[in-house]
Amino acid sequence: MRGVVLAGGAGSRLRPITFSMSKQLVPVANKPILFYGLSDLADAGIEEVGIIISPETGDEIRRAVGKGDRFGLKRVEFIVQDRPLGLAHALNMAMPFVDGDDCLMYLGDNLIKRGVADTVADFKVHRPNAQILLAEVPNPSEFGVAELNQDGVVVRLVEKPKVPPSNLALVGCYLFDAGVQKAIDSIKPSGRGELEITDAIQWLIDDGQEVRASMITGWWKDTGKKEDLLHASELVLSDLSEKIRGEVIDTEIRGAVTVGVGSRVVDSQIIGPVVIGDNVEIVRSKLGPNTTIGHGSHIHDAAIEDSLLMDGAEVSNWKLRFSLMGANTRLTGTPAPGFVELTVGERSEIFGT
Ligand code: G1P
Repeated sequence: MRGVVLAGGAGSRLRPITFSMSKQLVPVANKPILFYGLSDLADAGIEEVGIIISPETGDEIRRAVGKGDRFGLKRVEFIVQDRPLGLAHALNMAMPFVDGDDCLMYLGDNLIKRGVADTVADFKVHRPNAQILLAEVPNPSEFGVAELNQDGVVVRLVEKPKVPPSNLALVGCYLFDAGVQKAIDSIKPSGRGELEITDAIQWLIDDGQEVRASMITGWWKDTGKKEDLLHASELVLSDLSEKIRGEVIDTEIRGAVTVGVGSRVVDSQIIGPVVIGDNVEIVRSKLGPNTTIGHGSHIHDAAIEDSLLMDGAEVSNWKLRFSLMGANTRLTGTPAPGFVELTVGERSEIFGT
């Protein structure tokens, strides 16, 4: 089985962060989201992966992934999708790479707690024509949605329906045998002008082919929006175990906290789960819970909770919650009193009055 990982797209729902970086490289617990998926594929025994990239952010993805050996992959090929014409279009571009094998298509901004190994094993035992993963969600209109009959068989799939037929969302992980090519060739662009993977799978159902659905076990998160990204970060951090490699002086530490190499935490209070990167300085501050501080950051006299700060952040005196700060952002001066909720793009500076 070969992997097809989608790492293109404009990331418009995650602006301003994605004005300067690819959404799949946004870090969760100081590791790009995409890296979790690549390791999960390798863990499932998928060692050959085609990564779909866009002309805009493709080079950044190429540089970050490299040869893929550090994820346990044996072969990585980058495939440029010139325009975002849909998930089925992206898969079609990868078909020469898949070369008649079975394939697993994985959306690079998805995080699946238990990975994909069980799903791959299940596919190999039952050999359906396609296999999808479903998750119950409170907001099905934002996803592809599946309708099942009484026997649990998928009868219909609809992309982002206004009136959803169920609360079962399609997780961004799909398995196919080589027959998917005919489905892709047979469908037409949707109302939003994209070749939808949901339509390709619906074509397989209508053609009488077997589409197997299983419910996801453990959590799953599509990190396309700020709220979802912060929630994903909270979920990843909930599995954190303590690892203090830097210096911790006159500081109270509660719960799971990691402090990276070369970092100093002085006269502070850290309520886990909190990830502090390498070469970070934290002084007279209160951090956590559910907070990540990127490498090389400087945090002084601040309070930060439920937030994600990327590398090189500088925060003095501010109180942040539910905030998302791009790389090399600075918050200085005298801030507004109390906690603020910010989303700040890379290299931005905010001076309090
Ligand atoms: C895509 C799919 C949708 C699926 C979702 C999962 O939507 O089109 O069917 O439920 O991924 O993450 P997108 O996030 O690209 O809008």
